[in-house]
Amino acid sequence: MILAIETSCDDTSVAIVDSDRRVLCCLVASQDLVHKPFGGVVPEIASRNHTYHLLPLIDQAFVKTQKTWDDIEGIAVTSRPGLVGALIVGLVTAKTLALSQGKPFIGVHHIEGHIMAPFLKDEDYEGPDFYKDPFLGLVISGGHTQLYKTEGFGRYTVLGQTMDDAAGEAFDKFAKMLSLPYPGGVQVDRLSQKGNSKAFEFPRPLIKEDNYTFSFSGLKSSALRQLQGMSEGEIEKRKADLCASYQEAIVDVLMNRVQRAVKKTGLKKIVVSGGVSANSALRKRVLEWADENQLEVAIPPLKFCTDNAAMIGLAGLLRLQKGEFSNQDLAPQPRASL
Ligand code: KG4
Ligand code: ZN
Repeated sequence: MILAIETSCDDTSVAIVDSDRRVLCCLVASQDLVHKPFGGVVPEIASRNHTYHLLPLIDQAFVKTQKTWDDIEGIAVTSRPGLVGALIVGLVTAKTLALSQGKPFIGVHHIEGHIMAPFLKDEDYEGPDFYKDPFLGLVISGGHTQLYKTEGFGRYTVLGQTMDDAAGEAFDKFAKMLSLPYPGGVQVDRLSQKGNSKAFEFPRPLIKEDNYTFSFSGLKSSALRQLQGMSEGEIEKRKADLCASYQEAIVDVLMNRVQRAVKKTGLKKIVVSGGVSANSALRKRVLEWADENQLEVAIPPLKFCTDNAAMIGLAGLLRLQKGEFSNQDLAPQPRASL
């Protein structure tokens, strides 16, 4: 059984995951309200809030599951990549607990956590088992947009990534242009459900290119130009159509890249994860496509799409099962490829 800690950005999360990949409890203290007035994450404030929330959350996880330190066989913690101050809070806590409780700890790559998220299980979700097989992984979050070819857990090759903004950033920046509250992705998703996705024409950058590169900055500029040409009243009236059209452009780009990768690699198993995989239009498109093409797609339930410690616990568990663990001199890495 693993105690897991995630503090790489603005959510403080603690989970307990058992050796059958089952989440016994996953607690998240969101800092959305704290960062909202600034329209984005303020790193120093994020670190300070992690220090307030982390130890009470660990206590709460033990109370909720009625487990004790005797049940815990290892501590998993996000050590890379992320905001350095935020990572330090989780890492120092994990190292201290590892020393004081005499348990091994393992520093986990945040993206490996996202890739593993759909393989978790809990009382209302049973993830599939194909994490040991070759599969394609599309990780789309606020900081990352990457397509991986995976030979099985722990063996990743990057096929392509974004050359500018991440998909989540593209959502958040557009939401900011519309003065929607932070974090914007979920707001754009919600408004889109009442809008017409064909109402406005936005570009689908790079989809003609025969590679796996993503780009969202041209789409963002095109949206800005569109909004600059409209009055405030007009924008307000057509908010839902604007959101639906912009969202569809992002979904088209993501679908295009992953469909190309399936065609070229012949892989039939696909993981789509990270905060943007919570997007309802994308989920619908991916699942329909998988159904029509006999593909096995794993997308985490909403609670495991955005940052959470359960996914870090699973990646840590699988690494510990392979006999891997970290040393006390492990340093946080703000930037690190998988
Ligand atoms: O994985 P995550 O929680 O944090 C990072 O590792 O970055 O992803 C957060 C991102 C944010 O950009 C947020 O706006 C986006 O995921 N997001 C969404 C939705 N829910 C979260 N984007 C589109 N539609 C959603 N429903
Ligand atoms: Zn993340």
